Amino acid sequence: MTVHKEEKIWAFFVLGMVVVFLGALAYAAWGLGLNTPYTVQQIPAEKTLEVFKPSVDCINPNVKRVENNIVICEDGRYYVNIVGMRFRWLPSNIVLTNPKEVKFRITATDVIHGFQIAGTNVNVMVFPGYIAEITWKIPPNLPAGKYLIVCNEYCGAGHQDMYTVMEIRK
Ligand code: CUA
Repeated sequence: MTVHKEEKIWAFFVLGMVVVFLGALAYAAWGLGLNTPYTVQQIPAEKTLEVFKPSVDCINPNVKRVENNIVICEDGRYYVNIVGMRFRWLPSNIVLTNPKEVKFRITATDVIHGFQIAGTNVNVMVFPGYIAEITWKIPPNLPAGKYLIVCNEYCGAGHQDMYTVMEIRK
């Protein structure tokens, strides 16, 4: 079997590209710390509303108060527990004052929903029975105001009505 010179060049080129792509992926994951939202914990979906409380492991020593399923820390960090269900997000009135970092822990009671804060990079698919966790580092120039939280995963006849508003105060 003869392998032509051009064919060899292309084969090496393609292999080289594969190495470059895998390298870029590894760099993004470990070098830049860009990871996809992930599931941290399982929860019995039918008992979500009783079981899903701000958990002790997310409460740190400088907790100011817990309010509306939201843990507010002295240093501007927030831990927000969110439950998605057909066709709303709970809690429905989230107010964050001078947030620096928000850790969302999100789950669903019934079907798959998509949690997205419009105009930001917060976007995570939410499965019943699993808690997804994402940390949102608030960009310093993020304008104060009201942000729309939508469901971006079709979840039934009222999907388009599944939204809530989050207010950021500065
Ligand atoms: Cu929930 Cu669409």
